[in-house]
Amino acid sequence: MSGVRPERRPVDEAESLRANRADWDAYADEYQSTHGEFLGDAGFLWGPEGVREDDVHVLGDVVGRDVLEIGSGAGQCSRWVLRHGGRPVAIDVSMRQLQHSRRIDLEHDVVVPSLCASAAGLPFREDSFDIVFSAFGALQFVADAGALVGDVARVLRPGGIFAFSVTHPTRWMFPDDPGEEGLVASQSYWDRTPYVEVDDETGETRYVEHHRTLGDWVAALTRHGLHLTALLEPQWPEGHDRTWGGWSRVRGVLTPGTAIFRARRA
Ligand SMILES: C[S@@+](CC[C@H](N)C(=O)[O-])C[C@H]1O[C@@H](n2cnc3c(N)ncnc32)[C@H](O)[C@@H]1O
Repeated sequence: MSGVRPERRPVDEAESLRANRADWDAYADEYQSTHGEFLGDAGFLWGPEGVREDDVHVLGDVVGRDVLEIGSGAGQCSRWVLRHGGRPVAIDVSMRQLQHSRRIDLEHDVVVPSLCASAAGLPFREDSFDIVFSAFGALQFVADAGALVGDVARVLRPGGIFAFSVTHPTRWMFPDDPGEEGLVASQSYWDRTPYVEVDDETGETRYVEHHRTLGDWVAALTRHGLHLTALLEPQWPEGHDRTWGGWSRVRGVLTPGTAIFRARRA
């Protein structure tokens, strides 16, 4: 298999979708075998620090609520919603991730209603959900996060909750390295030019990640009538020594790795 080289350049929605869908399809088996046990078949983790919804209660009571998960992977969080009395619907762009979701469903004799679709253009009617959430799902993979937030506001009922976790925006300044190298700022926090991986041989775009500052997220929520009610920046837990990509104890005790936003529709 050929290698990839990193680049920084503008990328539109179609190119982001094409690259990230193929990337997640190719990576899904390894992702689930590496992280599945840590995630738990019906676990709800907000990020690599291992922060559990059971402990932080960002969504509030889900009993009897219609709940949409965006970028659901193998559906672990939606299965948690189901187990806690909610009615989940899960969407993910990767068919292979959804096949893992189905495999876990069959092992537990449950069904997480799931569809293969991009978060960029939610295929639901307005006022369909009480809660929309994403745990490191699609938000950093779409080109137009403002449009996605607007779409979330559209499908949420009045008073509904939108909660999502993303890589903490300040991490953008540092190399994605779990060691000491990952503690030295090397690029501007305010430079929104996407991070792109390009296939060395074919020149194809293989992966795209988009960046928004904390202020960008607040502006996007506010613009669409979603009022920020919490921003959690989990500290690295005592005794947690698991490294996940660029998330590690070395970096985690010094800089936040995850941001969890919670907003309410007026
Ligand atoms: C880091 S995983 C998180 C999944 C799950 N919450 C977990 O913790 O395992 C990111 C997920 O977002 C999905 N994804 C990426 N881009 C997407 C898009 N544009 N629309 C919907 N899902 C997307 C990927 O296929 C992947 O399953």
